[in-house]
Formats: sequence, C-alpha cells, structure tokens
Amino acid sequence: MYILGIDTSCDDTAAGVLRAPREVLSNEVATQFDLHAAFGGVVPEIASRAHTERVTRVVERAVERAGLTLGDLDAIAVTNRPGLVGSLIVGVAAAKSLAVALDIPLVGVHHIEAHCTAALADHPDLDYPFVALVASGGHTAVYDCAGPGAIEVICQTIDDAAGECFDKVAVLLDLPQPGGPAVSRLAESGDPKAVRFPRARVKGDSLAFSFSGLKTAVLYHLKGPGGRREDPDRADLGMDRASVAASFEQAAVDVLVDRSLRALAVRGYRELVVGGGVAANRRLRADLAARAPAEVRVRFPSMALCADNGAMIALRGAELLAAGITSPLDLDVSATGEPGALL
Ligand code: KG4
Ligand code: ZN
Repeated sequence: MYILGIDTSCDDTAAGVLRAPREVLSNEVATQFDLHAAFGGVVPEIASRAHTERVTRVVERAVERAGLTLGDLDAIAVTNRPGLVGSLIVGVAAAKSLAVALDIPLVGVHHIEAHCTAALADHPDLDYPFVALVASGGHTAVYDCAGPGAIEVICQTIDDAAGECFDKVAVLLDLPQPGGPAVSRLAESGDPKAVRFPRARVKGDSLAFSFSGLKTAVLYHLKGPGGRREDPDRADLGMDRASVAASFEQAAVDVLVDRSLRALAVRGYRELVVGGGVAANRRLRADLAARAPAEVRVRFPSMALCADNGAMIALRGAELLAAGITSPLDLDVSATGEPGALL
C-alpha cells in the first residue's frame, strides 16, 4: 500500500511517500526561511500563499522520487491539526482534490502524533508502548504512546517551546534562523560549564517544562551586570559567545533529558522515542543516550524525519488506516487539539 503524506502546518511545504507500514520512499520539503527572515517570525499570510504556490510541485516531486505515478497511490494522509489555519487549509485542500480525483481514501493526521511516531520508520523493531518526547518550534511535551489509538500527553511546557527558545537565543547571539542548528554549531567550540543557566522547575508539577526563564537568563547574562555589556562594548568585555551558546544548550538539554526520563520511569516503559526539530540536536542525542538507564532504549528518527516532513504524516496515516480510520471529504482543519482526541 502506497500512502502520500502532506504537511503544510506551518512554514514548510512537505510531501512524502510511504510503502506501508513503515518504509519511506521519498520525503520532499520546500522551506520558507527566506520569505519570513525579514519579519523575525512566520507571517501566516505569507506562509499560506507560499504553500499554495508550492504544494503541487512538492507533491509531484515526492511521487516521482518514490518511483511512482499518482495512479499508484492507495491513500492520502494530510495534517489537519494543529497548526496555522491558513496553512493547514492549503494542504487539506490539495489532499482532498487528489483523493477525489484518484478515488482513494483520505485520512486527517494530528501533527504531533506524527512527530511521536516518526522514529518507527527508522527502527523496524520499535513497537508500542513507548514514551515520546516531542520538542519542536511550536511544541514541547512528553506523551504516553500506549498504542496507535492511545496517545496522550503526560507533561508539557507552560510557556515557550524548546525550539522557540533556541530560536530566541539565536537572535540574542546575532545568529541566523532557524536558531537551533546555528546555536548548536556555535556551541561546539564553547564550554558548556562556563555559565550555570537555570534549569527551571514548575511549582506543583515536577514534570512540566518552562523555557521562558532560561531565555531571559541568557539575555541578562549577555547584557552583563547593570547592562554594561550592551552593544557596542560587549566584545571589549571578552565575552565568549560560544560558551554562552554551549551553556544555554546544556541547560535546555538537561531539562529535556530530566523530564523525559522521569516521565518514562512513571510509566514504566522501556522505550523512549524522540521527535520534532530539536531531536536533531547532537547534545540532546548524546546526553539522552548516556543518561538513560541501561534497560531503556532511546530511539531517534533519522535527521530527515525530525523536522516537519510528509513521510511522518504518511506513516501516522498508515497506522490510522490500518485501524480502519478514514476521514470524510468535508474534513476540517483546527489550530489546536490534543493528540488522541479524534480517535
Ligand atoms: O518540528 P519543526 O521542524 O517545526 C515545528 O513543528 O515547530 O521544529 C523546528 C524547530 C526550530 O525551532 C529549530 O530551531 C529547532 O527545531 N531545531 C533545533 C535543531 N534543529 C532544529 N534545535 C536545537 N538543535 C538543533 N540541531
Ligand atoms: Zn512539527
């Protein structure tokens, strides 16, 4: 069974083809960094317009790279929640048109459920139940994935997402967007122990994440006592930007590792799965592997399946289709919504 997956939930136009249940045949992404760079964040109107211009070509490329034609497809999976409504509508409209034209089933996919399950494509022996850490630009949470039809949140951030925090710290360090890879690259030559940034605990909820204080701590460190290090003098004060980046990255990673391992211990599972753009972070990969108990297996998706992509939507769609779930042609989009809600 060949399934096309489409994701236009934010600023990437993505399509991929999967041979069910888990074999990724293609994964095409058209990013929009250049279009939003001047605005310091994603502009929803620009994003949806760009999706409209690109989605047909990206889908065609995904089908071509899979060595197929449209007529070979057996089903269309598409992200319909959560995300930017104007962006979601474009992908869902494209998916509906294809489903009607090809007379094949359509299935709406929850974007975060797809991040939770993306690593299944890279690890044939991985199976439920598992705990999934999803850390991206829009979300940071840990999920109990008891089975394909039972994904529910264990804990989440009360403010910024981890990727958003990397992106904001990149701005403070005069680095380009997306900030995660840029901060991480600079951090490689720095000392992660140079500055002890806070690892925030949320009162009354030992598992919740909070990243806004960390970003503010980096801001105040860069400004220096009484704001003395503000431009243009900061180079004169000998501040080591690489060590600030490394110390920040270590603090963010420590929190992600701590919460996910504790959530895993609460559930008593032996598989920890990671997903979302921040799953590409090398320090996170190394520290989780090093700090997980011996009986725990930590599973990362390949780099292409970490950030937003169409293949993970196809994979999650394959799970839903295998459970007999399809969506009607009046499938709606939603900006919000917890995983599991429509199952
Ligand atoms: O999953 P994703 O592509 O999009 C969302 O659904 O948000 O995640 C993008 C986020 C961005 O905030 C980006 O800075 C972050 O993932 N990211 C990283 C790394 N690569 C991407 N953060 C830390 N380290 C990385 N290597
Ligand atoms: Zn995402």
